Amino acid sequence: MGTLSYIKNFIKDRQVASITPTSRFTIGRVCAYIDFSRDIRIVEFGPADGVFTRFILEKLSPASEIIAIETNRNFADALNGLHDDRLTVVNKSAEDVREILESKNWKRADYIISGIPFSFLNEELKHRILKDSADMLAEDGRFLGYQTSSHLKPYLSEHFPSVETEMEYLNLPPMCIYIAGRQKDRR
Ligand SMILES: C[S@@+](CC[C@H](N)C(=O)[O-])C[C@H]1O[C@@H](n2cnc3c(N)ncnc32)[C@H](O)[C@@H]1O
Repeated sequence: MGTLSYIKNFIKDRQVASITPTSRFTIGRVCAYIDFSRDIRIVEFGPADGVFTRFILEKLSPASEIIAIETNRNFADALNGLHDDRLTVVNKSAEDVREILESKNWKRADYIISGIPFSFLNEELKHRILKDSADMLAEDGRFLGYQTSSHLKPYLSEHFPSVETEMEYLNLPPMCIYIAGRQKDRR
């Protein structure tokens, strides 16, 4: 899959929100905040065709795990084709994160990576997803988001004591990256 698959899915499904995958520069910058040297649990919201997922699987230790939550069935089916025991693909919404993690007996995740289009969501849903994300993260865990604008910062700040942003311009369009933590001043 690549840009063509994005365009096809974008035409049919407004929630896809983008016609191109995230650039490798953004992926590298977001994933630089992940400590791959230990066994970790990652949740990914909106993996689409898995540009982040594949990058992460290459770096992930054998005992680490990733749950990818994707609303678009075509993308979820394609991701299932990766056939990696560390990966679980769930064709549901990020708003179901609490129930999904509980059903997998995950008490907490170490990282939540999110590219879902928060600007499309109503206020209640935005807050619910961010609150549940904060609740489901380990004490030293991080929520790593990427959006095409900085609109999410005030929402994140209501649920995370520490929120930083940085821009990646080698992305079409440029991407705002969010690093949010449950501990103050932790990047
Ligand atoms: C902008 S694309 C990002 C895709 C990919 N991660 C990348 O970096 O190129 C957003 C993705 O989120 C998915 N999505 C939208 N709303 C969602 C939700 N509430 N829960 C899970 N996935 C969602 C869309 O289907 C789409 O695949």
